[in-house]
Amino acid sequence: MTQVISFISRKGGTGKTTNAVNLANYLHSKGKKIVLVETDTNYTINSLRQIELYKTKKNISDYFHIVASEDHVVADEIKKLKTLGDYEYILVDSAGKTTDKGIRALVLVTDLACVTTSIDQHDLLVTYQTIQDLKPAQEVNKKLNILLIPNRIGENFGRRAIRKSLKELDTPILKSYVPFKSVFQRTTTIGPTRRYYRVAREIMKFLNQSA
Ligand SMILES: Nc1ncnc2c1ncn2[C@@H]1O[C@H](COP(=O)(O)OP(=O)(O)O)[C@@H](O)[C@H]1O
Ligand SMILES: [Mg+2]
Repeated sequence: MTQVISFISRKGGTGKTTNAVNLANYLHSKGKKIVLVETDTNYTINSLRQIELYKTKKNISDYFHIVASEDHVVADEIKKLKTLGDYEYILVDSAGKTTDKGIRALVLVTDLACVTTSIDQHDLLVTYQTIQDLKPAQEVNKKLNILLIPNRIGENFGRRAIRKSLKELDTPILKSYVPFKSVFQRTTTIGPTRRYYRVAREIMKFLNQSA
């Protein structure tokens, strides 16, 4: 059975692309059959992959698949990818706002919606809104789980501070978090980042426990 993991937030710059790519690398390195669908029409991930392949002279078949899509058609695209049956996981790096029709359709075919957020006040306000937008979909799609992924966390913050900041959102929070580190400013599509392993394992554990 294919499971769909979507990275969603109302705001740009919260870390959707960074987390989606890092999780994709991790799952691929564990031998899972995965595809990463990107809906940001800048096609950042696709472009990055092209550049990386060019520079390293490596073969595209060694890496996870990337499909370019757009928010308004991504739900249909996923249904198609699912019927192909080739993938264990479909990851979606969404570009859009949670109020878009396309994103609402996306969450109806999603098993796990990962909402990336920092704990800065401004991000928290937008994340609160993102969660409010997503929650009604759980009534329709009983399989939908929502998980907060704390991202860009500074050295002065620990898990307890993160929990306190995110408590009011009344949504499961990843046990681990993604620190603010330069390694996450240099995303790569052609190999896993060790620093992300723990986060990836926690995400997959959450998905498996709630499935
Ligand atoms: N944990 C992190 N540590 C350092 N930089 C990060 C981290 N997460 C994201 N970034 C940087 O912040 C910027 C926005 O992240 P990105 O993943 O592109 O966000 P989004 O896809 O939600 O717009 C990028 O330049 C990225 O490299
Ligand atoms: Mg992005």
